[in-house]
Amino acid sequence: MQSLTPRQIVAELDKYIIGQDPAKRAVAIALRNRWRWQQLPDDVRRDITPKNIIMIGPTGVGKTEISRRLAKLSDAPFIKIEATKYTEVGYYGRDVESMVRDLVEAAIAMVREKKRSTIQEEAQRRVEERLLDLLIPASTTSRKKNSPKMEPLELLIKAATGERSGNDGDDITEAEQEHAADRSSRTRERFREKLKAGELEDKQVELRIESRLTPVHVMSNIGGMEQMEMDLQNLFDKIGPKQTSHRSVPVRKAREILLEQELESLMDKDAINEEAVRLAETHGVIFIDELDKICGGEESRGPDVSRQGVQRDLLPIIEGTTVQTKYGYVKTDQVLFIAAGAFHRSRPADLMPELQGRFPIRVELQPLTRDDFIRILTEPKTSLTRQYQDLLAADTIKLKFSKDGIEAIADIAHHVNQTTQNIGARRLHTILERLLEDISFDAPDVKKKALAIDGDYVRKKLQDILKNEDLSKFIL
Ligand SMILES: Nc1ncnc2c1ncn2[C@@H]1O[C@H](COP(=O)(O)OP(=O)(O)OP(=O)(O)O)[C@@H](O)[C@H]1O
Ligand SMILES: [Mg+2]
Repeated sequence: MQSLTPRQIVAELDKYIIGQDPAKRAVAIALRNRWRWQQLPDDVRRDITPKNIIMIGPTGVGKTEISRRLAKLSDAPFIKIEATKYTEVGYYGRDVESMVRDLVEAAIAMVREKKRSTIQEEAQRRVEERLLDLLIPASTTSRKKNSPKMEPLELLIKAATGERSGNDGDDITEAEQEHAADRSSRTRERFREKLKAGELEDKQVELRIESRLTPVHVMSNIGGMEQMEMDLQNLFDKIGPKQTSHRSVPVRKAREILLEQELESLMDKDAINEEAVRLAETHGVIFIDELDKICGGEESRGPDVSRQGVQRDLLPIIEGTTVQTKYGYVKTDQVLFIAAGAFHRSRPADLMPELQGRFPIRVELQPLTRDDFIRILTEPKTSLTRQYQDLLAADTIKLKFSKDGIEAIADIAHHVNQTTQNIGARRLHTILERLLEDISFDAPDVKKKALAIDGDYVRKKLQDILKNEDLSKFIL
């Protein structure tokens, strides 16, 4: 596992997310602690479980964004799920345990990816041989392949009967034999050179492709049936009918297909599964978004029954349990959970007490200010303004945002957030879309390709809507 220091993790997150330092620090520490834990001797390790985190903050201030970026950073199996996706066992929807199965899938993908790079060279070598087999005309190869097999036996018989070999015309003498083998190996080398030089890329070859017919996701939507679906899928993988088809494809395409086949055959599936399960158990991170959505107020009824149920189902997984997956049993004791939620209608205190106890670290994210908006518009690598510039550049438009233009956008976003609903940085999306609507529409037709968005332009475009509060509720 790669071990970025907390400082490095925060620096990386800083490239995309403005502010929210406490949250960034907390997740950075948690990730680093995983690595620290790895360094401990076994007997100490067993008693230390990860400290799970809840990120709390209003909508649109970067909770989900932090998790998305974190996923890319952590060189560990990482999945992000929405708590709302799950329902209590027995109800319509996915059962909570499936998140552990998803985690193992992520781990499998990671381990396979790593293995691939170690066997890549060997696979490529094999592909070359197979391509040559396909390319070289059958007559030269068949001679090479068949005759040596026949010959020793024939010679033996002939020797036993005292007959001299090679005098009845259609028999091949040893010298001829050698000659033929020599010729075919020369042909092969000639083809190999051509292949390497890329001269044969468009030549057609015939490939045999095998695939199993499997009824995929027969009933993935029936609650609680996932286990059964999994077993069925396994069964079909083993005994399902094989389908073989022949396809004629150019060498360039054949190389891709053969490489997949060779990589597949070089991989030791059992070893990969074992390693992936271990990796998921010791390094896995599950990010549970929208945790607040599964916590209903005390007094209300109805859907809350199911929400409480999800919490109850969640509890054992977070506390540490064993879940059966396609690849074996997975213990969840050491999986790190990071949860996030706006908690504007409910509070963390509304969660079941047991669940609260499993998330000892609470970090709050702050509402975004006007100055944050300015930075969000300009600083991140993938800032909104840059996205629009890139998009419009396809229509050869050169879009420029002046400093006072950015300030005007931030001012308006902040103002609308205060007067209507505060949706955080999401407000910037709606405002920019509105602001650039005309330009986006006219872009291919306009003569003037260099456009500047300054304060006046922003105010002129948006003032009518701003004046009317009801209208801005609908449009911005
Ligand atoms: N601090 C920030 N820095 C940069 N961009 C941000 C920040 N906060 C939010 N954004 C942008 O705003 C959008 C919404 O943010 P995000 O999805 O993280 O909200 P959230 O906190 O998860 O809200 P919710 O509680 O509604 O799920 C994203 O496109 C994100 O890029
Ligand atoms: Mg979110």
